[in-house]
Amino acid sequence: MTQPITKAIVPAAGLGTRLLPATKSQPKEMLPVGRKPVLQYVVEELQEAGLRQLLLITGRRKRVIEDHFDDDPELVSALKEAGNETLLADLAYIAGKSFFFYTRQSTPMGLGHAVSLGADFAGDDDCVVALGDSLIVADDPAAPLRAMMKAHRDLGAAAMVAVEKVPLEEAYRYGIVSVVGAEPPPGEPVAMTDIVEKPPVGRAPTTLAVAARYVFSPAIFEALDRTLPDKGGEIQLTDAIRLLIHKGEPVYAWLFYPDQRRYDVGNFESYFRTFIDFALADERYGYLVRKYIKAKAYEL
Ligand code: G1P
Repeated sequence: MTQPITKAIVPAAGLGTRLLPATKSQPKEMLPVGRKPVLQYVVEELQEAGLRQLLLITGRRKRVIEDHFDDDPELVSALKEAGNETLLADLAYIAGKSFFFYTRQSTPMGLGHAVSLGADFAGDDDCVVALGDSLIVADDPAAPLRAMMKAHRDLGAAAMVAVEKVPLEEAYRYGIVSVVGAEPPPGEPVAMTDIVEKPPVGRAPTTLAVAARYVFSPAIFEALDRTLPDKGGEIQLTDAIRLLIHKGEPVYAWLFYPDQRRYDVGNFESYFRTFIDFALADERYGYLVRKYIKAKAYEL
C-alpha cells in the first residue's frame, strides 16, 4: 500500500505590500479573520486533511508565526488555574497534531522560489502546497484537499491544482488554466493543457483561476530549478507547472464544488469581505454582528 501524503509546504513569505500599513510589522498571514489569524485556519485545514508535517516558509518580520504555533505552558497553566475551559479549548490547535518546520525566504523572489525552498523537506514524497493567505470555506474545509490528494495518487499525477471560476474581468489577478474540454465538472480532475500567470486584461483564455491549493510530485522541484524569473524578477510557481505540462507530465485541474469557496486577504477589499463573512458566521458572536449590520444597513 502506498503511504498517504503527510507533508505540506505553506508559503507565508509575501511582503503584503497591498495591505500596508497593516502589514508594516505584522505578517498578512497573521491578520485576524474573526477570532483567528488567517494562517490558523490554513493549518487546521491541513491537519484535518491528515497532513502531519508542515513546512512554513516565512521571511523577515514574520517571527510571530512561530510563536503562534508554539506551546505556551505559562498561558495554559494560568488558564487552567482560572478554570477557563473555553479559552483552553480555543488553544487546542497547538496540541501535537503536526510537526512544524520553518525556513525563511529572506529575499522576495516569488512564490515559485518560496516553494523551491521546500525541496529537501519534500524529498521523494508527494506533497501539498497551501498558500498561507487563502482560506477554504465549506462544510468540511479539508474536503477539497482530501479529494485532490486521492485523485493525485489514483492518476499518478505530477500536479493536481485546485481551480475556481472567477468573473472574466478579474482573471488578470490569477493564474489562469486551460483544460481539455469546455467546462470541467466540479470535483473531477481534468487534464490541463496550459496555464498562464496573471494574463493581461482581456487576454485570459478561460475564467478558471488557480485557487491556492496544489498537490505535487517531486517533479515540481526539478521544474522550479529550470524556471526563469519573470519580468519582475520573480520565479512563478505557475511557470514551473507550465514546464511540467510542456514536458508531457500529467497535470490536472480540480474544480471546487459550488459550496466550496476560497477567500483571501491579499488586498483590503478581499480582506474586509473575508472578515465580514467570517464575523457574520461566527458561532459565538455572529448573532451580535448580524444585529449590528442590520441596524447599520438602515443608516446607509
Ligand atoms: C498566487 C498565484 C496565482 C493564484 C493566486 C490565488 O498569486 O501566483 O496563480 O491564482 O495566488 O491562489 P498572488 O495572489 O500571490 O499574487
